[in-house]
Amino acid sequence: MSRFFDLVSASARNMGTANSSSRTPTAPQLRSQLIKLDSNENPFGPSARVIDALRGALSTVNSYPDDDCSQLRQKLAAHHGVSPEQVLVTAGSTAMLSLLCQTLLAPGLNAVTSERSFIVYSLAVQAAGARLVEAPMRDDSFDLEAILAAIDSNTRIVFLANPNNPTGTVLVAEVVERFLARLPGHVVAVLDEAYYEFALHFATLRRVTYSTSLDCVRQGATVVVLRTFSKAHGLAGLRVGYGLGPAELLGYCVRMRNTFSVSSVAQAAAVAALDDHHHIQRVVENNAMQSRVLSEGLLALGYRVVPTSASFLFCDLEEDAAAVANRLQNEGVAVRPLGPWGAPSCIRITIGTPEQNQALLQAAGGLDATTQRRRALSGAE
Ligand SMILES: Cc1ncc(COP(=O)(O)O)c(C=O)c1O
Repeated sequence: MSRFFDLVSASARNMGTANSSSRTPTAPQLRSQLIKLDSNENPFGPSARVIDALRGALSTVNSYPDDDCSQLRQKLAAHHGVSPEQVLVTAGSTAMLSLLCQTLLAPGLNAVTSERSFIVYSLAVQAAGARLVEAPMRDDSFDLEAILAAIDSNTRIVFLANPNNPTGTVLVAEVVERFLARLPGHVVAVLDEAYYEFALHFATLRRVTYSTSLDCVRQGATVVVLRTFSKAHGLAGLRVGYGLGPAELLGYCVRMRNTFSVSSVAQAAAVAALDDHHHIQRVVENNAMQSRVLSEGLLALGYRVVPTSASFLFCDLEEDAAAVANRLQNEGVAVRPLGPWGAPSCIRITIGTPEQNQALLQAAGGLDATTQRRRALSGAE
């Protein structure tokens, strides 16, 4: 037995290794050439305006950052029409998830979400010593009745990723409103809108109302909305996101957070990125257009693709997805196999630039020909 097994907390012992990747590692020199469609990163990167802001901030990195993120917090509050006390800036929205779990959960308590949702919910809940209950899905989307039925007197959080990662499915505003109205008072709803800008654009094209979550925050509902600069703004490597919710609850979360966790460069970049409408428009328009190109290409190869409201596609290959992902990686394109999400025949593909998507389709087409040849050969045997 290892030296530290008896010393570490029960939560650390029971966490498992869900954090580590099970895929074949890529050599560093190959990794830099890899077309990365596996982590839902912004294929265009940050805007020129953000890069200027970053340059300006570099000369001050000898000083600790503003722990309160005052300028960014004020700007976010004005942007969203809430008070600064209803905004908490964190090192990515995953840090906000962890804070909520540490603040609201403990051994004996639980959080509820759907199966096949954002993997960090399970990590953050387990790290707090609590239990995550995963309700079954229906048709690749959340089954809200099943989620409501899973709630008990020990539930403190319900996580709804909207759109969901990895399925890309969305719950429109009136469905979420009806769900929230049925939640018992002892449960905080965490509405994770990491892909907000993409979903809003899709909803506008489809003439539906995506989200009224901020109205809920303004009305003081027991709701925390999560947003991030990692996706549409292209700042994933800087780690900056935020929660919007009841001032009192966020005040408790502040007590639990690490000091100086949001760097000064991240704060400066986020301030510049927040109203960078031109860049965000370019990103979401490419995404919507390319989601069509990529879906049609994959459908033509005989794969099932779930219509997306996010920056990625959920695709059922009806064969071992991990093996296909490894073969695609050898062809220079990384995608995410979804075995750890209980979908071993499915992959998640980030929607890239037109060139990246063509490279993916070409690589997948090559594999498809190989698969068909192999099937034909095994059929002939
Ligand atoms: C549903 C969802 N929530 C939150 C995040 C985390 O974003 P951040 O980079 O802000 O921690 C992601 C990232 O993939 C996500 O898919």
